[in-house]
Amino acid sequence: MSTDSPVADRARLDRVQRRFGEFAAEYAALPLYAALCRELARDDEAAALLLVARPGQARPVLWLAAVHDLVLKNPGSPAAQWFPSVVGPGMTPDGDPWPDVRQFALAHRDELVERIATHGTQTNEVNRAVYVALGLALAAADVPDLPVALLELGASAGLLLGVERYAVELTAPEAREGEGPVRLGDPGSSVRCSGVDRRCAAHRLVDHGVGLPHVVARVGLDLEPVDVADDDAVRWLEACLWPDVPGRVERFRAARSLLRDDAQTLVAGDMVDDLPAALALAAAGPGPDGHLVVLTSWALTYLEPARRADVLHHLRAAAADVRALSWLSAEPPGCVPGLVTPAEGLEGNTVLGLHRWRDGRALEPMVLGSCHPHGAWVDVSLEVVESTVLQRYSH
Ligand SMILES: C[S@@+](CC[C@H](N)C(=O)[O-])C[C@H]1O[C@@H](n2cnc3c(N)ncnc32)[C@H](O)[C@@H]1O
Repeated sequence: MSTDSPVADRARLDRVQRRFGEFAAEYAALPLYAALCRELARDDEAAALLLVARPGQARPVLWLAAVHDLVLKNPGSPAAQWFPSVVGPGMTPDGDPWPDVRQFALAHRDELVERIATHGTQTNEVNRAVYVALGLALAAADVPDLPVALLELGASAGLLLGVERYAVELTAPEAREGEGPVRLGDPGSSVRCSGVDRRCAAHRLVDHGVGLPHVVARVGLDLEPVDVADDDAVRWLEACLWPDVPGRVERFRAARSLLRDDAQTLVAGDMVDDLPAALALAAAGPGPDGHLVVLTSWALTYLEPARRADVLHHLRAAAADVRALSWLSAEPPGCVPGLVTPAEGLEGNTVLGLHRWRDGRALEPMVLGSCHPHGAWVDVSLEVVESTVLQRYSH
């Protein structure tokens, strides 16, 4: 395990353990993960397993994901009884999970170290379908009848591509008494997503007769796409979800099993270098009279800033070949080229943006609003809704 001098190793271990302590303090409300991190902050032997992580990856969530992955693989182990993702929500015992989890981690040291040394964590939160559904309805509000090809850049396992096959519920805030929820997608779906629609934007859209467009093709592009039929790869994505947060793992599993029978096309490649080919592949679905909707959700942010304008450049070029092209983005402020994020007034770290081209002509890019990074709420103003709908009559 030692990679450097004993003094340097001690200093690295101190840093790692400080991070475990900080995680425990920040997420004190998570019964399992906070308890484990409190112990890891003072257990040298168990915490030192994280020192094999690749540069920049030695974060508590990687240790936790690696152990979660092994527990999911060994559901009969004593450690597994502490994980709601294995035994079910509300079924974990009272008491201290650390002795079982520590014993399990050290007994599986080689497998744990292998995962930590070779993997990174990533969040595939299916509830992001809440902001994707609202954004997709807004993107198509002026061209509601065109068949849509959905192309997601940085799609991972492509779970967001199934958005219109999920039951997506946008609920009115408590202050709007008497306003029922708006449901987009398939109300009978086994995949249930929900979030608060702070300004009732979806309600206003529905008043205008706008819902989700008809999606006829789905393509995902990712450097390392995950095949939903690959049990090991999918288990790692599941392991990256925090088992303490109710509903996340269950929703992930439901989406996986729904899409497993009707998988979308996933292409391995870079979102700049391989974008023209992916755009052509997706556009072939509905043909030149269709609407190509490109989605980036917490993906463009991983691209070096200097390359982000290249994405826009390729989209602009592709817009000449289709009736309508839109780019729906959900990324941190300042990430998406051409989107001017207001200095104030946007809550949260996820900005919803929309670029549109109609008959090859670019419309003014719009900040739609902001949202919770996992879709717990969306905040889109009614003026934005009106202007996307009104656009219908101007072309
Ligand atoms: C945090 S995941 C987001 C997954 C999904 N978009 C979501 O919101 O749930 C980011 C994904 O972007 C992919 N990615 C990062 N850089 C990329 C690039 N240059 N080209 C294609 N995909 C990339 C990663 O492989 C990873 O699967």
